Amino acid sequence: MTGPKRRRTLGYHTATVRNAFLTRLPDALVGGLLKARHVRQPIALQEHCFASAHWPRDFDGLRIAHLSDIHYGHLLGDDRLMQAVDAVRAVRADLIAITGDLVDLSAHEAPRLFERLALLTARLGVFVVLGNHDHLDHPRAIVRGARDAGLVPLVDESARAGGRDGLLVAGIDWATSIPACSARLRRCGAGRADLLLAHNPKAFVGAEERGIPLTLSGHTHGGQVARRANPRHNLVFTQRLNAGHYHVRESHLYVTNGVGAWFPLRVNCPPEIAVIEMRSR
Ligand SMILES: [Fe+2]
Repeated sequence: MTGPKRRRTLGYHTATVRNAFLTRLPDALVGGLLKARHVRQPIALQEHCFASAHWPRDFDGLRIAHLSDIHYGHLLGDDRLMQAVDAVRAVRADLIAITGDLVDLSAHEAPRLFERLALLTARLGVFVVLGNHDHLDHPRAIVRGARDAGLVPLVDESARAGGRDGLLVAGIDWATSIPACSARLRRCGAGRADLLLAHNPKAFVGAEERGIPLTLSGHTHGGQVARRANPRHNLVFTQRLNAGHYHVRESHLYVTNGVGAWFPLRVNCPPEIAVIEMRSR
């Protein structure tokens, strides 16, 4: 890969060790069964319709395809990626949102990833924010790859989708805490956005304070192992906003299970692509 020199973080090396011991080794011990079963699970299409008085009337009925946590790499390769890309294309959404963790560990394979993501098109554009895994190796390569593929990477910035009076889409970079998410949101300079993309669902706290009608997030993978009767009872019990739809006054948050993972086990928590229809009221 050409371009700026890589700054592999301590997190990259920690994640590589974790990947070796918690993913590759157990999978090798059972003859590749874990990975084979993991990528055989159908990708569910979750359709939702939310209404908000803050949603602009000009975009009443807008359909957004929400794809997240691809984790392109060892567990999710080209075939599985194309399944997800084809599923998103079939939805024919007005706007596509990709909310981070595009790669699992290394940005080395990002050109192949973006070759396929370049197939995604939507009337109002395809917007991307980065997740914590995108920061492990070479985040600038991910941003550059997204831009070169015709997608719109948002790094603490906002953009109008659909022209000068279009939908105001804000996107924040990976942040670990509520205050850090809110600080990034302030940097977007968007005033009150119509749509916020943030890998970390904790961004919803700041989004709701600003009255942003819709926030789309990933990161938790829906907890990966959940109770059948209550998907919010899952392995990510330390995080309050960990799966599905949340609603405070006129603000909605959707936390998707995502399509990939760094650990090959999902129970009552299928990989998914969400389709959100937004209504104004
Ligand atoms: Fe993730």
